[in-house]
Amino acid sequence: MIVVTGASGQLGRLVIEALLKKLPAGEIVAAVRNPEKVADLAARGVQVRPADYNQPDSLVAAFAGADKLLLISGSEVGSRVAQHRAVIDAAKAAGIGLLAYTSILHAATSPLPLAAEHKETESLIRASGLPAVILRNGWYSENYLAGVPAALQYGVLLGSAGEGRIASAARLDYAEAAAALLTQDNQAGRIYELAGDEAYTLGELAGEIAKQSGKAVAYQNLPESDFKAALLGAGLPDGLATLLAESDVGASKGGLFDDGRQLSQLIGRPTTPLVEQLKLALA
Ligand SMILES: NC(=O)c1ccc[n+]([C@@H]2O[C@H](COP(=O)([O-])OP(=O)(O)OC[C@H]3O[C@@H](n4cnc5c(N)ncnc54)[C@H](OP(=O)(O)O)[C@@H]3O)[C@@H](O)[C@H]2O)c1
Repeated sequence: MIVVTGASGQLGRLVIEALLKKLPAGEIVAAVRNPEKVADLAARGVQVRPADYNQPDSLVAAFAGADKLLLISGSEVGSRVAQHRAVIDAAKAAGIGLLAYTSILHAATSPLPLAAEHKETESLIRASGLPAVILRNGWYSENYLAGVPAALQYGVLLGSAGEGRIASAARLDYAEAAAALLTQDNQAGRIYELAGDEAYTLGELAGEIAKQSGKAVAYQNLPESDFKAALLGAGLPDGLATLLAESDVGASKGGLFDDGRQLSQLIGRPTTPLVEQLKLALA
Protein backbone atom coordinates (compact mmCIF):
# COMPACT_ATOMS: atom_id res chain seq x y z
CA MET A 1 0.00 0.00 0.00
CA ILE A 2 1.32 3.44 -0.96
CA VAL A 3 0.27 6.62 0.85
CA VAL A 4 0.55 10.05 -0.80
CA THR A 5 0.24 13.17 1.38
CA GLY A 6 -0.95 16.44 -0.19
CA ALA A 7 -2.92 14.28 -2.62
CA SER A 8 -5.50 17.04 -3.12
CA GLY A 9 -2.84 19.40 -4.48
CA GLN A 10 -1.79 19.87 -8.09
CA LEU A 11 1.25 17.57 -7.87
CA GLY A 12 -0.46 15.07 -5.56
CA ARG A 13 -3.39 14.55 -7.91
CA LEU A 14 -1.02 13.87 -10.79
CA VAL A 15 0.94 11.37 -8.65
CA ILE A 16 -2.29 9.54 -7.80
CA GLU A 17 -3.26 9.42 -11.49
CA ALA A 18 0.17 8.03 -12.39
CA LEU A 19 -0.08 5.42 -9.60
CA LEU A 20 -3.56 4.41 -10.78
CA LYS A 21 -1.95 3.37 -14.09
CA LYS A 22 0.35 0.99 -12.20
CA LEU A 23 -1.61 -0.29 -9.18
CA PRO A 24 -5.16 -1.25 -8.16
CA ALA A 25 -6.94 1.77 -6.65
CA GLY A 26 -7.39 -0.02 -3.32
CA GLU A 27 -3.60 -0.10 -2.82
CA ILE A 28 -3.36 3.69 -3.00
CA VAL A 29 -4.10 6.02 -0.08
CA ALA A 30 -4.77 9.72 -0.62
CA ALA A 31 -3.85 11.36 2.70
CA VAL A 32 -5.45 14.82 2.73
CA ARG A 33 -6.52 17.45 5.21
CA ASN A 34 -9.81 18.02 3.35
CA PRO A 35 -11.24 14.62 2.29
CA GLU A 36 -14.18 16.27 0.51
CA LYS A 37 -11.70 17.71 -2.02
CA VAL A 38 -10.90 14.21 -3.30
CA ALA A 39 -14.38 12.66 -3.28
CA ASP A 40 -13.81 11.85 -6.96
CA LEU A 41 -10.80 9.70 -6.03
CA ALA A 42 -12.77 7.89 -3.31
CA ALA A 43 -15.46 7.15 -5.91
CA ARG A 44 -12.76 5.49 -8.03
CA GLY A 45 -11.72 3.21 -5.18
CA VAL A 46 -8.72 5.13 -3.83
CA GLN A 47 -8.59 5.01 -0.02
CA VAL A 48 -9.03 8.53 1.34
CA ARG A 49 -7.77 9.21 4.86
CA PRO A 50 -7.73 12.49 6.81
CA ALA A 51 -4.14 13.68 7.40
CA ASP A 52 -3.26 17.19 8.55
CA TYR A 53 0.44 18.04 8.97
CA ASN A 54 -0.59 20.11 12.01
CA GLN A 55 -2.41 17.20 13.68
CA PRO A 56 0.12 14.42 14.39
CA ASP A 57 -2.53 11.92 15.55
CA SER A 58 -4.26 12.12 12.18
CA LEU A 59 -0.96 11.23 10.47
CA VAL A 60 -0.30 8.08 12.48
CA ALA A 61 -3.82 6.82 11.67
CA ALA A 62 -3.48 7.75 7.99
CA PHE A 63 -0.23 5.83 7.54
CA ALA A 64 -1.35 2.62 9.34
CA GLY A 65 -0.66 -0.52 7.34
CA ALA A 66 1.21 1.26 4.51
CA ASP A 67 4.49 0.03 3.00
CA LYS A 68 5.57 3.25 1.30
CA LEU A 69 4.83 6.92 1.85
CA LEU A 70 5.32 9.94 -0.39
CA LEU A 71 5.61 13.12 1.66
CA ILE A 72 4.78 15.98 -0.69
CA SER A 73 6.33 19.04 0.91
CA GLY A 74 3.78 21.37 2.50
CA SER A 75 2.75 24.70 1.04
CA GLU A 76 2.87 26.79 4.23
CA VAL A 77 6.38 28.22 3.87
CA GLY A 78 7.92 28.91 7.29
CA SER A 79 5.89 26.19 9.05
CA ARG A 80 7.14 23.27 7.05
CA VAL A 81 9.97 21.92 9.19
CA ALA A 82 7.64 21.24 12.14
CA GLN A 83 4.98 19.84 9.79
CA HIS A 84 7.43 17.56 8.01
CA ARG A 85 8.89 16.45 11.36
CA ALA A 86 5.38 15.33 12.39
CA VAL A 87 5.06 13.31 9.17
CA ILE A 88 8.48 11.68 9.61
CA ASP A 89 7.70 10.78 13.24
CA ALA A 90 4.34 9.30 12.22
CA ALA A 91 5.99 7.35 9.38
CA LYS A 92 8.39 5.87 11.91
CA ALA A 93 5.58 5.00 14.31
CA ALA A 94 3.65 3.34 11.46
CA GLY A 95 6.68 1.26 10.42
CA ILE A 96 6.80 2.66 6.88
CA GLY A 97 9.27 0.71 4.72
CA LEU A 98 10.18 3.55 2.35
CA LEU A 99 9.71 7.29 2.79
CA ALA A 100 9.94 9.39 -0.37
CA TYR A 101 10.19 13.18 -0.01
CA THR A 102 9.80 15.98 -2.60
CA SER A 103 12.73 18.27 -1.88
CA ILE A 104 14.28 21.05 -4.00
CA LEU A 105 16.93 20.83 -6.72
CA HIS A 106 20.46 20.70 -5.24
CA ALA A 107 18.99 21.18 -1.74
CA ALA A 108 22.38 20.95 -0.03
CA THR A 109 23.95 23.81 -2.02
CA SER A 110 20.99 25.71 -3.49
CA PRO A 111 21.22 29.54 -3.42
CA LEU A 112 17.41 29.76 -3.12
CA PRO A 113 16.26 30.76 0.40
CA LEU A 114 13.37 28.33 -0.15
CA ALA A 115 15.88 25.47 0.09
CA ALA A 116 16.49 25.95 3.83
CA GLU A 117 13.35 24.10 4.94
CA HIS A 118 14.02 21.28 2.48
CA LYS A 119 17.62 20.94 3.65
CA GLU A 120 16.43 20.74 7.24
CA THR A 121 13.75 18.17 6.33
CA GLU A 122 16.34 16.04 4.56
CA SER A 123 18.45 16.14 7.76
CA LEU A 124 15.45 15.06 9.84
CA ILE A 125 14.83 12.17 7.45
CA ARG A 126 18.48 11.07 7.69
CA ALA A 127 18.36 11.30 11.49
CA SER A 128 15.14 9.25 11.62
CA GLY A 129 16.93 6.22 10.20
CA LEU A 130 13.92 5.49 7.96
CA PRO A 131 14.74 3.97 4.56
CA ALA A 132 14.24 7.00 2.32
CA VAL A 133 14.52 8.32 -1.21
CA ILE A 134 14.79 12.03 -1.93
CA LEU A 135 13.30 13.62 -5.05
CA ARG A 136 15.02 16.96 -5.39
CA ASN A 137 12.48 18.54 -7.72
CA GLY A 138 13.48 21.46 -9.90
CA TRP A 139 11.13 24.32 -10.84
CA TYR A 140 7.73 23.62 -12.35
CA SER A 141 7.50 25.16 -15.83
CA GLU A 142 3.99 26.18 -14.79
CA ASN A 143 5.53 28.74 -12.38
CA TYR A 144 6.84 30.81 -15.28
CA LEU A 145 3.92 30.08 -17.60
CA ALA A 146 1.66 31.77 -15.03
CA GLY A 147 3.32 35.05 -16.06
CA VAL A 148 2.45 34.68 -19.76
CA PRO A 149 -0.89 36.60 -19.71
CA ALA A 150 0.76 39.64 -18.06
CA ALA A 151 3.71 39.44 -20.49
CA LEU A 152 1.27 39.52 -23.41
CA GLN A 153 -0.75 42.35 -21.88
CA TYR A 154 2.23 44.62 -21.23
CA GLY A 155 4.70 43.36 -23.84
CA VAL A 156 7.23 42.79 -21.07
CA LEU A 157 8.23 39.72 -19.09
CA LEU A 158 9.60 40.83 -15.73
CA GLY A 159 12.03 38.90 -13.57
CA SER A 160 15.30 38.92 -11.64
CA ALA A 161 16.86 35.76 -13.06
CA GLY A 162 19.35 37.59 -15.30
CA GLU A 163 21.18 35.16 -17.55
CA GLY A 164 20.49 32.21 -15.22
CA ARG A 165 19.50 29.09 -17.12
CA ILE A 166 16.35 27.38 -15.88
CA ALA A 167 15.91 23.64 -16.41
CA SER A 168 12.24 23.47 -15.43
CA ALA A 169 9.87 20.60 -16.18
CA ALA A 170 6.13 20.02 -16.11
CA ARG A 171 4.46 19.06 -12.83
CA LEU A 172 3.33 15.95 -14.71
CA ASP A 173 6.96 14.93 -15.29
CA TYR A 174 7.80 15.18 -11.57
CA ALA A 175 4.59 13.29 -10.70
CA GLU A 176 5.44 10.43 -13.05
CA ALA A 177 8.93 10.27 -11.56
CA ALA A 178 7.47 9.93 -8.06
CA ALA A 179 5.10 7.18 -9.18
CA ALA A 180 7.95 5.40 -10.97
CA LEU A 181 10.24 5.18 -7.96
CA LEU A 182 7.38 4.38 -5.56
CA THR A 183 6.66 1.29 -7.65
CA GLN A 184 10.30 0.21 -8.11
CA ASP A 185 12.52 -1.75 -5.73
CA ASN A 186 15.89 -0.69 -4.29
CA GLN A 187 15.16 3.03 -3.91
CA ALA A 188 16.27 3.47 -0.28
CA GLY A 189 19.29 5.74 0.06
CA ARG A 190 18.92 7.35 -3.37
CA ILE A 191 18.86 11.08 -4.02
CA TYR A 192 17.57 12.24 -7.40
CA GLU A 193 18.32 15.69 -8.86
CA LEU A 194 15.27 16.17 -11.09
CA ALA A 195 15.10 18.83 -13.80
CA GLY A 196 14.01 19.35 -17.39
CA ASP A 197 16.11 18.13 -20.33
CA GLU A 198 16.21 21.64 -21.80
CA ALA A 199 17.12 24.89 -20.10
CA TYR A 200 16.33 28.50 -21.02
CA THR A 201 16.92 32.03 -19.80
CA LEU A 202 13.95 34.31 -19.16
CA GLY A 203 15.12 36.34 -22.18
CA GLU A 204 14.73 33.22 -24.30
CA LEU A 205 11.31 32.54 -22.74
CA ALA A 206 10.19 36.08 -23.67
CA GLY A 207 11.46 35.44 -27.22
CA GLU A 208 9.47 32.21 -27.44
CA ILE A 209 6.30 33.90 -26.14
CA ALA A 210 6.77 36.59 -28.82
CA LYS A 211 7.39 34.00 -31.53
CA GLN A 212 4.38 31.85 -30.69
CA SER A 213 1.94 34.70 -30.01
CA GLY A 214 3.07 37.00 -32.82
CA LYS A 215 3.16 39.89 -30.30
CA ALA A 216 6.18 41.90 -29.19
CA VAL A 217 7.39 40.64 -25.78
CA ALA A 218 10.78 41.53 -24.28
CA TYR A 219 12.43 40.42 -21.07
CA GLN A 220 13.21 43.12 -18.50
CA ASN A 221 15.59 42.15 -15.72
CA LEU A 222 14.92 43.99 -12.46
CA PRO A 223 16.65 44.24 -9.08
CA GLU A 224 14.98 41.91 -6.56
CA SER A 225 13.18 44.74 -4.72
CA ASP A 226 11.74 46.20 -7.95
CA PHE A 227 10.56 42.79 -9.14
CA LYS A 228 8.93 42.15 -5.76
CA ALA A 229 7.23 45.55 -5.94
CA ALA A 230 5.91 44.72 -9.43
CA LEU A 231 4.51 41.41 -8.17
CA LEU A 232 2.84 43.18 -5.22
CA GLY A 233 1.43 45.73 -7.68
CA ALA A 234 -0.04 42.85 -9.67
CA GLY A 235 -1.92 41.75 -6.54
CA LEU A 236 0.27 38.89 -5.29
CA PRO A 237 0.41 38.46 -1.50
CA ASP A 238 3.62 39.61 0.18
CA GLY A 239 4.87 36.09 1.05
CA LEU A 240 4.49 34.82 -2.51
CA ALA A 241 6.00 37.97 -4.04
CA THR A 242 9.04 37.64 -1.74
CA LEU A 243 9.41 33.95 -2.54
CA LEU A 244 9.22 34.45 -6.31
CA ALA A 245 11.61 37.42 -6.33
CA GLU A 246 14.24 35.72 -4.17
CA SER A 247 13.89 32.48 -6.14
CA ASP A 248 14.55 34.40 -9.37
CA VAL A 249 17.72 35.81 -7.82
CA GLY A 250 18.64 32.23 -6.90
CA ALA A 251 18.03 31.27 -10.54
CA SER A 252 20.42 34.04 -11.65
CA LYS A 253 23.10 32.18 -9.62
CA GLY A 254 22.35 28.87 -11.36
CA GLY A 255 20.03 27.54 -8.65
CA LEU A 256 17.41 26.22 -11.08
CA PHE A 257 19.85 24.63 -13.53
CA ASP A 258 20.84 21.00 -13.85
CA ASP A 259 21.80 18.96 -16.90
CA GLY A 260 22.00 15.47 -15.41
CA ARG A 261 18.79 14.32 -17.14
CA GLN A 262 17.84 12.07 -14.21
CA LEU A 263 14.18 13.06 -14.59
CA SER A 264 13.85 11.82 -18.16
CA GLN A 265 15.75 8.65 -17.23
CA LEU A 266 13.32 7.99 -14.40
CA ILE A 267 10.17 8.54 -16.48
CA GLY A 268 11.53 6.79 -19.57
CA ARG A 269 10.80 9.66 -21.97
CA PRO A 270 12.03 13.21 -22.60
CA THR A 271 10.65 15.81 -20.20
CA THR A 272 7.77 17.92 -21.53
CA PRO A 273 9.27 20.68 -23.69
CA LEU A 274 8.50 24.21 -22.49
CA VAL A 275 7.54 25.21 -26.06
CA GLU A 276 4.80 22.56 -26.01
CA GLN A 277 3.45 23.73 -22.66
CA LEU A 278 3.54 27.32 -23.92
CA LYS A 279 1.54 26.32 -27.01
CA LEU A 280 -1.14 24.84 -24.74
CA ALA A 281 -1.06 27.92 -22.48
CA LEU A 282 -1.58 30.22 -25.49
CA ALA A 283 -4.31 28.08 -27.09
N1 LIG B 1 9.08 22.79 -7.65
C1 LIG B 1 8.33 23.86 -7.73
O1 LIG B 1 8.40 24.67 -8.67
C2 LIG B 1 7.30 24.11 -6.67
C3 LIG B 1 6.41 25.16 -6.80
C4 LIG B 1 5.44 25.34 -5.82
C5 LIG B 1 5.39 24.50 -4.73
N2 LIG B 1 6.29 23.48 -4.63
C6 LIG B 1 6.29 22.53 -3.48
O2 LIG B 1 5.69 21.33 -3.96
C7 LIG B 1 4.51 21.03 -3.22
C8 LIG B 1 3.47 20.46 -4.17
O3 LIG B 1 3.21 21.41 -5.19
P1 LIG B 1 1.74 21.65 -5.68
O4 LIG B 1 1.85 22.45 -6.92
O5 LIG B 1 0.97 20.40 -5.69
O6 LIG B 1 1.15 22.58 -4.50
P2 LIG B 1 -0.38 22.77 -4.10
O7 LIG B 1 -1.27 22.55 -5.30
O8 LIG B 1 -0.46 24.06 -3.39
O9 LIG B 1 -0.68 21.57 -3.08
C9 LIG B 1 -0.23 21.60 -1.78
C10 LIG B 1 -0.82 20.40 -1.07
O10 LIG B 1 -0.36 20.42 0.29
C11 LIG B 1 -1.51 20.24 1.12
N3 LIG B 1 -1.29 20.82 2.43
C12 LIG B 1 -0.93 22.08 2.73
N4 LIG B 1 -0.88 22.25 4.06
C13 LIG B 1 -1.23 21.05 4.61
C14 LIG B 1 -1.40 20.60 5.94
N5 LIG B 1 -1.22 21.40 6.99
N6 LIG B 1 -1.74 19.32 6.14
C15 LIG B 1 -1.95 18.48 5.08
N7 LIG B 1 -1.84 18.86 3.79
C16 LIG B 1 -1.49 20.14 3.58
C17 LIG B 1 -2.62 20.93 0.38
O11 LIG B 1 -3.88 20.55 0.90
P3 LIG B 1 -5.22 21.39 0.51
O12 LIG B 1 -5.65 20.87 -0.85
O13 LIG B 1 -6.19 21.03 1.58
O14 LIG B 1 -4.87 22.84 0.49
C18 LIG B 1 -2.35 20.42 -1.02
O15 LIG B 1 -2.83 19.11 -1.16
C19 LIG B 1 4.12 22.35 -2.57
O16 LIG B 1 3.36 22.13 -1.41
C20 LIG B 1 5.47 22.99 -2.31
O17 LIG B 1 6.07 22.44 -1.15
C21 LIG B 1 7.23 23.27 -5.57
